[in-house]
Amino acid sequence: MALNKSEVLASLAAVASPSGEPLPRTGALSDIVVGDGKVFFSITVDAASVQAWEPVRQRAEAAVKALPGVTSAMVALTAERAAGGGPPPGAGVARPQGGRGGQAGAKVVAQSGAGPGPGPTSPAAAAAAQRAHGVTGIPGVGAIIAVASGKGGVGKSTTAVNLALALRDLGLRIGVLDANIYGPSIPKLFAIKGRPQTIGGTRLVPMDGYGLKVMSIGFLIEEETPMIWRGPMVMSALTQMLREVEWGKLDVMVVDMPPGTGDAQLTMAQQVPLAGAVIVSTPQDLALIDARRGIAMFRRVNVPVLGIVENMSYFLCPQCGTRTDIFGHGGARREAERLGVPFLGEVPLHMEIREKSDAGLPVVATVPDGPHAAIYRGIAARVRDGLAGGARRAAPRIVIEA
Ligand SMILES: Nc1ncnc2c1ncn2[C@@H]1O[C@H](COP(=O)(O)OP(=O)(O)O)[C@@H](O)[C@H]1O
Ligand SMILES: [Mg+2]
Repeated sequence: MALNKSEVLASLAAVASPSGEPLPRTGALSDIVVGDGKVFFSITVDAASVQAWEPVRQRAEAAVKALPGVTSAMVALTAERAAGGGPPPGAGVARPQGGRGGQAGAKVVAQSGAGPGPGPTSPAAAAAAQRAHGVTGIPGVGAIIAVASGKGGVGKSTTAVNLALALRDLGLRIGVLDANIYGPSIPKLFAIKGRPQTIGGTRLVPMDGYGLKVMSIGFLIEEETPMIWRGPMVMSALTQMLREVEWGKLDVMVVDMPPGTGDAQLTMAQQVPLAGAVIVSTPQDLALIDARRGIAMFRRVNVPVLGIVENMSYFLCPQCGTRTDIFGHGGARREAERLGVPFLGEVPLHMEIREKSDAGLPVVATVPDGPHAAIYRGIAARVRDGLAGGARRAAPRIVIEA
């Protein structure tokens, strides 16, 4: 019989909160996600009492793991920000996300004192600024970069995968984290099947994709499982994929961000100690408005924008070689200049990119001598140089478009 939520809840009734109340009665439990023997949920607690809750979290995890049919359980503490309080210390604890729903991001931003104006001038300064606000790095992982866009379907995941592979070709040790927990596409783009191994029942071993270390919620949950995530759950899942995975030594971790610039993305950008962001845009104005929002969002949280990639920049007819600027090519370059961020390169709209990508055979890995791989390697070199300290920050203040 398939495992269900009520069995999980029943097992948690035997776990007492610090005040002795059965866990399901505390009101602290998030929605419980059950899929293919994996169970995820979070316990939202007051920032001041995380230490008292940590043993409860461990007991809850053990209780769920003991259920027949459960292969792994991930339980995270999500701390509510105490008024005026900083992030709580404590191992294995998700950092506070500052209240619920729509206010979360805004509050934290206000506390950090970061407006939409100029932020830190380098990835190192950004990292320092983030550390100052309680965002700690991941041991062994050098730079974490986000690949983001204001909206979906612009080729973010395709860019993230090929950029990661091109960075690998530059001799760097690379990991890929799929932060798109609502619609993970990284397993498909790498054609990775199967489940990650665990070490000691808790730490996950990343999967291998063409020599990269890869982690996605898609490895843990069946594709058909509808994903209903509540705010705290999102952070729990992300925190665990970041911090409870054996990433080992990485020079760069490429994070494929979910589309959009909403609270989830803002929170994500705050939770992950980002060294920089790569914004993907198509040339159309509409996409650029979205891209501008993306840039504004990262600036709000003091993450340097490493630059803009113009994807689907122009169309090269595979038959006749004629070039057509379907979406009005060049918009992203102009926009990059206007905003004072580096322009990283143009990727054409090409059948080969789509076919290879959707078949789990990304061009940089499978057609390394082709023109598209060369384009991605050029982009990767500019990203690496940006990370090495050359990332320019734009002086102009930009207004966040609501
Ligand atoms: N440069 C490109 N040329 C052709 N197809 C592309 C290109 N970039 C992305 N695609 C295709 O567009 C679709 C959306 O891309 P994807 O990377 O999933 O976007 P996002 O992550 O922004 O939602 C996919 O089918 C992908 O193969
Ligand atoms: Mg995607």
